[in-house]
Parts: sequence; structure tokens; C-alpha cells
Amino acid sequence: MPIETETARVTAEFDVVDESDLIRVRKVLRTEAQATGLGLVDTTKLITAGSELARNILNYATDGRGRLTVEQVVHRGRRGVRATFGDAGPGIEDVDLAMTDGFSSRGSLGLGLPGARRLVDDMSLESAAGSGTTVVIVKWQR
Ligand SMILES: Nc1ncnc2c1ncn2[C@@H]1O[C@H](COP(=O)(O)OP(=O)(O)O)[C@@H](O)[C@H]1O
Ligand SMILES: [Mg+2]
Repeated sequence: MPIETETARVTAEFDVVDESDLIRVRKVLRTEAQATGLGLVDTTKLITAGSELARNILNYATDGRGRLTVEQVVHRGRRGVRATFGDAGPGIEDVDLAMTDGFSSRGSLGLGLPGARRLVDDMSLESAAGSGTTVVIVKWQR
């Protein structure tokens, strides 16, 4: 199941700038997952992945500022939730390295990005030094 879809409808969109937005991210992803008919386990996986990506915005983007867009998507009759975490921060110079288990530029666990990838059905990461970072995750109905 691809990350590009036939049908996409934006259901939530807001800036991520502080801790209270992390709570909002979790809440919105829960609501959207349930509205899409994802099970409890998949819902929790989506929320966990989204929390890590939102946390990265607070930690690494310029002024800890970014934006979340959530969409209800449909592909071949199957519904899913797609969440896009974008920022205009410093970007990631070596994306492959950043995706490696245990790599952190800050001495933290370094499991956010690779962990998020494992928790969702698909994830795309576009970034380059100086041009910001966009991470898209999608979770499909079973
Ligand atoms: N939005 C982002 N902007 C810039 N760099 C990022 C961003 N997200 C992740 N990174 C870089 O990727 C590394 C790995 O991220 P992650 O796997 O979440 O581990 P951690 O947050 O524990 O360092 C980070 O240490 C950071 O250097
Ligand atoms: Mg992280």
C-alpha cells in the first residue's frame, strides 16, 4: 500500500510548537485512527510514531516549530490515515544515518525515526541540509 493515494481529505492541520501541541498530536491521531476504523494496536502504533516525529520538530527544527497535516486517505477501497510532519529547520544532512537505530546528533536514544518507520505501514522522509524536513507516515485499515 503506497503513501500516494487516490483520495485524500485533510481533516486536521496545525502548528507544532510546544509540549501542549504534542498532546494535541496524540489526540488528533487517536480521533482520526478511530474514525478510519483502525484497531487499538494500530491506533497506538500510529500515535507513538507521530509523537516521535512531533518531538523531533520540537527538538531539532528552527525555533522548535513545524506543522502537522492529517488526512483521511483511500486506496483501492481501503481507508487509512496519513500524517505529514513538516518543518523549515536545518534539515538532515545524512538521511540514511538518521534512520539508523541508535544514531542521534544529541546523544539521545536515536530510535525515533527508525522506530516510527517500523510502527507504520509506510514512511517517507525528505530532507536536505538547510531546506527543512518533511516526514510522511501512513497507517492502513486491515
Ligand atoms: N525534524 C528534524 N530536523 C532536523 N534534524 C532531525 C529532525 N528529526 C530528526 N533529526 C535528526 O535525526 C536524528 C535521529 O532522530 P531520532 O531517530 O528521532 O533520534 P533522537 O531524536 O533520539 O536523536 C536526530 O538526532 C537529528 O539529528
Ligand atoms: Mg527523536
